[in-house]
Amino acid sequence: MKRRNFITAATLAGLGIPLTSFLINNKQKNGKDIRGTFSTNNNRISIYTNAEVKPIRIFHITDTHLSLDDERGNLYQEFSKRMAGAYKSNAHFKTSEKYSAKESFENTLILAKEQDVDFLALTGDIFSFPSKAAVDWALQKLNETNIPFAYVAGNHDWHFEGMKGSSQELRETWTEKHLKPMYQGNHPLYSAYNFNGVRFLCIDNSTYEILPEQLEFFKMQTKSEIPIILLMHIPLYMPGRAMDFGCANPNWGEKSDNGFEIERRNKWRKGGHTKTTLDFYKEVFNAPNLLAVLAGHTHRPSIDIKNGIPQVVSSHNATGYYSDIQIDKMP
Ligand SMILES: [Fe+2]
Repeated sequence: MKRRNFITAATLAGLGIPLTSFLINNKQKNGKDIRGTFSTNNNRISIYTNAEVKPIRIFHITDTHLSLDDERGNLYQEFSKRMAGAYKSNAHFKTSEKYSAKESFENTLILAKEQDVDFLALTGDIFSFPSKAAVDWALQKLNETNIPFAYVAGNHDWHFEGMKGSSQELRETWTEKHLKPMYQGNHPLYSAYNFNGVRFLCIDNSTYEILPEQLEFFKMQTKSEIPIILLMHIPLYMPGRAMDFGCANPNWGEKSDNGFEIERRNKWRKGGHTKTTLDFYKEVFNAPNLLAVLAGHTHRPSIDIKNGIPQVVSSHNATGYYSDIQIDKMP
């Protein structure tokens, strides 16, 4: 068996497997294997690459669902009330002790600081609705750590339930009005953060769809030999997984949308995904320099591997969950 075929498509049932290790090589055009190995041990993940990188330790944090609010949110209570009541008390993923989402986020950042984590990857639903108070508080806490971070939105971050407008329109409005400081001057829909020889790419797929400019941006990044970690909120389609693996899922669309009434939003697109979204999917799993995809949204930890590329979905940080990821050069 050729090395690159060692794993072409594999699915792990979750992180219940105590220690798992894979060779995930794939040759670039210049003949260099950029992907080395990928291992998991509960919420700890090790990614080794043949590229020239310096060691990096990151915390992947997703789906905290912060809902703190103040008088600035009074005008929007009609649209925030359901999600404002969610995730008030959550059983910690290790100890089962009860914590609020706010406490979980704060405790995760304290741990990251204590453990000298280099980078924080935030993949959306950090907020349950676009609350100015929550954004101010989270930013203050993040800045206090002095740890660089990248943020990409989830479907709840910009969503005021019942407010008129398409998902794309609401995302545009509330990203600009309330979430903007989270992007640190970068484009909210696509951006790149370089750290120790690794490029963290943020692509906002929180409407389940990819826009043409995001596809072009991603294609450009795959031409480089810099290893990439792709950060998105909604996991990419994997056969056998539920509909919440909804980006480029062939079954996604108006007919499979069971959540539009409770979330008081427009139904998903009639006819399913756009060609751009489906093309993006192909580009991702053929990208020679992609080390891993990090996503959230499902609130359950899982790992899938397609074409040698792992997709790590972390559970919700409302329960204190984070993935502790080490990236290093192959020995
Ligand atoms: Fe979520």
